[in-house]
Amino acid sequence: MNEILLVFASIFLVTYIITKKLLNKYQNLPPTPFPTLPILGHLYLFRNPTQIHRALAKVSDRYGPVVQLWLGFRRTLLVSSASAAEDCLHHNDVIFANRPRLLGAKILGYDYTNMLWAPYGPLWRNHRRIASTEILSPHRLSLLAHIRSDEVKSLLKRLYDHLPEGDNHDSTVEIKTALFELTNNVMMRMIAGKRIYGEKVESEDAKRFKLLMKELLSSGGAFSGGDFFPFFKYLGLNKANEKKWNAIFVKFDKFFQDLVNEQREKMKEEGDDCDPKNKNMIKVLLGLQKTDPGYFTEDIIKGLVMILLLTGTETSSSIMEWAVTLLLKYPEIHNKARKEIDQHVGHDRLIEEQDLHNLPYLNCIINETLRMYPAAPIIPPHESSEDCVVGGYRIPQGTMLNVNLWAIQNDPKVWDEPSKFKPERFENVEGNRIGYKFMPFGSGRRACPGQNLATRVVGLTLGSLIQCFQWEAVEEDIDMVEKSAVSMWKAKPLQAIFKPRNEMVEFISLI
Ligand code: HEM
Repeated sequence: MNEILLVFASIFLVTYIITKKLLNKYQNLPPTPFPTLPILGHLYLFRNPTQIHRALAKVSDRYGPVVQLWLGFRRTLLVSSASAAEDCLHHNDVIFANRPRLLGAKILGYDYTNMLWAPYGPLWRNHRRIASTEILSPHRLSLLAHIRSDEVKSLLKRLYDHLPEGDNHDSTVEIKTALFELTNNVMMRMIAGKRIYGEKVESEDAKRFKLLMKELLSSGGAFSGGDFFPFFKYLGLNKANEKKWNAIFVKFDKFFQDLVNEQREKMKEEGDDCDPKNKNMIKVLLGLQKTDPGYFTEDIIKGLVMILLLTGTETSSSIMEWAVTLLLKYPEIHNKARKEIDQHVGHDRLIEEQDLHNLPYLNCIINETLRMYPAAPIIPPHESSEDCVVGGYRIPQGTMLNVNLWAIQNDPKVWDEPSKFKPERFENVEGNRIGYKFMPFGSGRRACPGQNLATRVVGLTLGSLIQCFQWEAVEEDIDMVEKSAVSMWKAKPLQAIFKPRNEMVEFISLI
């Protein structure tokens, strides 16, 4: 009896697989990895959520650069080559300009109204217009250059003050913490006109924000079971996640409402006397609220502020930690960068943002870091609003798109020795882009609006650290394991030994 059952089960399985394959072919859908488990689909590929980009790159090695996955009941397109990415983000840019409606984005993203999660349409377009003309425009970025310069100086001073008394002494620092505080202060000052990390004592705001970030990061990422299994909603299985995210949202909302209220009070005190240099993003948005209160509601303002602070802080500090790590691992490249800075900037002054045009090798280092360790190894998901064609396959409407940026930027068929840090490969490359094979800030309508700001902050900070200090790793064999969460982190934070360069010591001591 058991044998007969086994034979029937085998016949059923083989027929099922062949029918599915034939159906896929007949419908011209992309190849699908085997097995597609009942109900779960391919969720088993996400066993190690900290290295999903690597697991998905293996899938693409086996099934090709355009693959269809089933994440539970959600049809997903996985793309891992430059030409397939071009199909999605250029030829079908408008079709893929949507984002999927995920439960976390609904609760934490002010009901899909913030810039990152808003559906493609008038609201999102308005957000992008405000970002590019009012908040992140080249003019505003130049007006607020003093903030970035101040904060970099403050980091240099904090490092210097950390050194023990006496000549030629060194000290050790966990560089990521220092860099996170720097990017957070830059963003907070640009957004709300105040820094939250002080010289020595941590402010109440800093404690509150750190705790909020910790809760957000431990909440398990952007996805929840209900995003893959629609029946969760009807069985009440989303409740636990909803409760957890609602609790985090209430605290975040209060944090941002306090910031907005504070700036509203300041504006009342100042009247029309606000110096453009002190006009932070919240003040700009509150000014717009006066002329168009129907659009610029409190929630729209808080949503914008929240997303700019979250996206602008973690990404840039992670990239800089990787860049410093790579420089310590490759001292000859570090020396070459230092020589370039000495030659073009010298020792009589600190590097400034205007110098970055004259430091092409530093830009190559940043690009090579962004290639190997992109802040968004899998680009935040998009979703198709119509049927379209990618890599010759038919992609149905409502498919979630995952572009494996890490796989594209580390593809051995495209890049010579991709796991080797070779900034020289970016010599003669203008900016931070090579077609679709290198696009760390994404491409098309949903590409990163903060690219200009990020390149200024990263260039200035990294250049200043190289110019002012000598660096050395604590471990001989530096751990290079990555962990992808909100951005691509170094799994083991870098501990670095530093001391001021002789040529710069007097200068730094006077900051
Ligand atoms: C090294 C730093 C950064 C990297 C590598 C980076 C990369 C990216 C990438 C890959 C995307 C997704 C593009 C897509 O979905 O197709 C993105 C989106 C976004 N980034 Fe950045 N980013 C960085 C810094 C910043 C900064 C400083 C800000 C703001 C101050 C920012 C704000 C945003 C926003 C709001 C979006 C969502 C855009 C939309 O959906 O329309 N990013 N970024």
